[in-house]
Order: sequence, then C-alpha cells, then structure tokens
Amino acid sequence: MPTYRTSPPAKLNLFLEILGKRNDGYHELDTVMVAVDLRDELSLRPVESPGISLTVDWLPGRPVIADELGIASDAPLLNVPADERNLVHRALALVNQTSGYQGGWEVHLGKRIPAGAGMGGASSDAAATLRLAAAAIADRSGSATSHGLDRIDEVALTSLAEQLGSDVPFFLNPTSGLARARGRGENLSFFDLPRSHEFVVVYPGVALSTAEVYRHCHVSDPVRSGDQVIDAFCSDPSTTSQKILYNALQSTARGLSTQVGEALDWLSDTGLRHRLMTGSGSACFVWLADPTDSGQALAVELAKTRDQEPYRLSEQSGPEAKSAEGSSVQSGGALIRAVTTCTAASEIHIA
Ligand code: C5P
Repeated sequence: MPTYRTSPPAKLNLFLEILGKRNDGYHELDTVMVAVDLRDELSLRPVESPGISLTVDWLPGRPVIADELGIASDAPLLNVPADERNLVHRALALVNQTSGYQGGWEVHLGKRIPAGAGMGGASSDAAATLRLAAAAIADRSGSATSHGLDRIDEVALTSLAEQLGSDVPFFLNPTSGLARARGRGENLSFFDLPRSHEFVVVYPGVALSTAEVYRHCHVSDPVRSGDQVIDAFCSDPSTTSQKILYNALQSTARGLSTQVGEALDWLSDTGLRHRLMTGSGSACFVWLADPTDSGQALAVELAKTRDQEPYRLSEQSGPEAKSAEGSSVQSGGALIRAVTTCTAASEIHIA
C-alpha cells in the first residue's frame, strides 16, 4: 500500500489578545498568525492489520538537538509521546470512527518544531494527519475490497480539526498569507501578504503548558485590535516604526518561566525592535521588518553568542517549567532558527 507524506509547518502569532473568558473554560481570542517554513516530516501508510503504530524522532537527530539545547540526549524535554497523548494518534482514531476504516496505520513523525513552544507543532502534525488519512481513505474507498468506507469531506475534516484543538483548523489550510483567528481560534479569515517575511526564533529549552499559561492569564481591558498588524503586514511593513506586535499571554508566561524573559532580553541585543513571544510560549522571535536584513546571518550571530555571558540562558527551571511529560527540565541552551513565511500550501506526496 502507498505511503503518504507531507511536511507540516510551524506558526508564529504576530498578535494575540484575550477578549474574554468563556463558559466552556476557553478564552475568546483575537489573534493573527503566519505559517512558517520550520517543518516536521510526517509519513503515513494504511496497513491491513488494525492498530496505530506511531514512531517519533528528532531531525536531524536527537543528539544534535540535545547538544544545541545543552541538555542530555535522554532529557525528558525531547520525549514526544507516541501514544494516545499525541494528537496524531487521536486524529487517526477520529478518522477511523468517521470513515468506518477497519485497517491500521503505520506513522512516522520527524520533529523539527520544538514542543511546548507556542509554534503549533502538535496541532500542525494533527491537521496534516487528517489530510493524509483522508486522502488515503478517498483512494481506498474506490477499491473493490473496501466497500462501505465513507470519504471524509472538508466539512467533516474541519469538525474533526476543531475537536482536536483550537489551532488545528488553521493548520488544515496553512496558506502563504496572514490568518486572523477569533473565537477560541477556529473562526478564521485570511489575508494576502504582498511579500514573504523573515523571522529569527529562539526556543529557550523549556516547554510551557498551554493550559497552564491560560489558567494564569488575565482578560485585557481595554482590548487591542489585530487590525493594525494586518494593515502593516499587508501594506509596506518596513515603514512601520511603531511596536505593532503584541501578545497578551507574554507577561503571564514570563511570570511562569524565567527563560521566556531571558529569551526576549537576549533578542533585544539584536537591536531589532519587533520581538515577541509566540502563542502561549515558550519560543520568542524577532521580525526582520527590513527585507534587506538576513535572518540567516542574524541566527548565526546569535548562535555564536550562545555560550557567552550574559546570553547563556538560565540553568534553573521554575516550578512551572515542565517537559512534555510533566517533569522539570534543566536548560542551558536554545534552538535558534531563521524562518520565512510559507510560500505555498503543504503538498501531499504519494509513493
Ligand atoms: O484547544 P487546545 O486543546 O489547544 O487548548 C489547550 C488549553 O489551552 C485548553 O484546555 C484551555 O485551557 C486553553 N485555551 C484557552 N483558550 C483558547 C485556547 C486554549 O483557554 N482559546
């Protein structure tokens, strides 16, 4: 049976405002996001015997990433669950339920997007899984041996995405433009970007729990609007002198993890004014508003200073600094990546 592959992208939030707390425990948001070309690698193969077999590793390799972060290769921070706690697993269970598919899945996930970073890695992997599995089901539904399989249309896919998480619907259709998300994150509208943009992202070697950050956050009063960010990016952002990027969760995350504040302070040394934490953290980024600046050159400079005082990130983890599995982590380094806004929708390759 064929293997279906795709490369799920990460996202950065350029703006995030908390409009209110809802009765269902979620927060009402106004957020502006872009998909960026830091990508995981996902491959999925339908197999005859039932069950979901998921394997996960880090790209280009766990020791390389551990070394960049200044942690041991077996550190809990790098343990991505491969069972029902992984959204890929839950996405496939939903696909099976919806389509009536009785067979199994062999899935491999190569991770580049850091965990607990606010870059949407798990959500993007889940959305990509829905896409690949729906394509596989559509291909099989035509075969003589697979009568009774229900294809999953766009409406059903969107509903499955919403069940999996607030950011998952965005990743079903990551485009090259800006997306504004309202509600709990699922009410999406899209805006064309006249050009691509570069950012440098710093992941300070600590995973923040989204639920934990939201539990401690405050509803803004008065609230800001994402209009200004959309206007600036969709016209000529290099002329923007004001600090337009904003994230209402940033001060909460700084309070929960010293490393977030350190990453932001560290980025202030670049001299670039547009810096922000993404989503619920912990990753932070600078936006290179001037298209003549090189994100790659800046990333190399930042990496060189990684081991020097005062840029080295804190060795101590606060009580809220948790690994993906919930235990405290020690961090002494950071992942530094130059990223660009995605130029096209993710492709599905079948081989
Ligand atoms: O939707 P998702 O499962 O990604 O959300 C994780 C947690 O983040 C939720 O359980 C909720 O506590 C919090 N959250 C929120 N408001 C949102 C999105 C997430 O309070 N709009």
